[in-house]
Amino acid sequence: MSILRLTCSPQGERSESYLLSQHILHHLAAVDPVRATEVTELHTNSLPHVDEEYAITLGSAVDPEHQEGGSLSLSQQLMQTLAEADYVVIATPMHNFTVPSGLKAWIDHVVRVRHTFQATPEGKVGTLKDRPVFIAMSSGGLVTGGRARQPDFLTPYLRTVFATIGIHNLTFFSVQGTALGATTREAAQQDAHAEIARHFASMK
Ligand SMILES: Cc1cc2nc3c(=O)[nH]c(=O)nc-3n(C[C@H](O)[C@H](O)[C@H](O)COP(=O)(O)O)c2cc1C
Repeated sequence: MSILRLTCSPQGERSESYLLSQHILHHLAAVDPVRATEVTELHTNSLPHVDEEYAITLGSAVDPEHQEGGSLSLSQQLMQTLAEADYVVIATPMHNFTVPSGLKAWIDHVVRVRHTFQATPEGKVGTLKDRPVFIAMSSGGLVTGGRARQPDFLTPYLRTVFATIGIHNLTFFSVQGTALGATTREAAQQDAHAEIARHFASMK
């Protein structure tokens, strides 16, 4: 597999964050035409929350011998898909200052002790190989800059969660202020597209 794209907006492929992620994929394909052609799509909005057996297993010292049903099995599939990806692209809106619940559900399935990280006396140590993760984020208000009037728990949260499983190479692009009128929205889109183009041009 080459690219894993997570689409996390309830508006799916009509969403601002999805459209932004399309630009990332376009530039990624130009930079790495060999590996960046195949995209595995995952819509996190339809993922179930982790179940009771999963919670019991994560709180135990060992994994059960058989992990056939429920969240344990889904978690296994999701971890494998992530482990196989050369690139990860995440299209996500900001919901209540952080990630939407579907993306949080995916995180709960893939950040898993004894699988994607080990618990050591020094803390959690990730077991996945590092790889580029590109985040296409959209928010109704402003999140960065002097005019931002809200906290951003999304960016530091994703950095911490991915670092926990061994992935440190995160790059964020955003369209902010989508609720502030068409002019602001279009200017934010243009700025984000230019930033993506600059970023990938520097990778060539
Ligand atoms: C449940 C919910 C919570 C939201 N919380 C925030 C927020 O905390 N900050 C913000 O700037 N926008 C917030 N928004 C607005 C979205 O981030 C904004 O509409 C964004 O452009 C949607 O992106 P999408 O088209 O990719 O879904 C929220 C929207 C929803 C539906």
